[in-house]
Amino acid sequence: MPSRNNIILIGFMGVGKGSLAREVIKNSSYVAIDTDDLIESMANKKIKKIFEDEGEAHFRELEKDVAFWLEKSVENTLISTGGGFYKVKNLKKIGTVVLLDSPFDAIMKRIKEHPNAANKLKKRPLLSNLKEAKKLYNVRRTEYLELADIVIDVTDKTLEVCSKELLKKVKKYA
Ligand code: S3P
Repeated sequence: MPSRNNIILIGFMGVGKGSLAREVIKNSSYVAIDTDDLIESMANKKIKKIFEDEGEAHFRELEKDVAFWLEKSVENTLISTGGGFYKVKNLKKIGTVVLLDSPFDAIMKRIKEHPNAANKLKKRPLLSNLKEAKKLYNVRRTEYLELADIVIDVTDKTLEVCSKELLKKVKKYA
């Protein structure tokens, strides 16, 4: 494990990275931060608005800035990321990479069953076209698996079960 003792959660949009991070910190000494939250604070704008005003390429540059800052400045932290953050070149230098894995249809079902489903879809520009989103999922899943130090299949599991599995696997990996 890189010396800073960070965990980075990667995985497709809507798989539950933020929710799991909030669960894990209840039962561990990690603090949690989220790369999309950091970008929104830096830019003082919502992600959707950054995509609309400056485009996706600019958003990806902001992700790189955040990745650089995380590598230099953060320790003992559980970092949840946006679904495309894994492409930053220094990902593995930031911490142990944990992939939250689930089939595309299960992820979409999870989003649609959420009480705030409309908002979850609205704030994610890359989910506006489901056919394109599925293509993106297929490409990314291979790349996620290549980068992951640890994989957690989250399908049909409670946050509590996933959290225990994560902490156990991270401990073994260290
Ligand atoms: C993106 C995922 C989003 C957000 C942005 C781009 C992606 O985060 O970073 O809309 O490229 O997969 P979530 O994974 O939290 O939805």
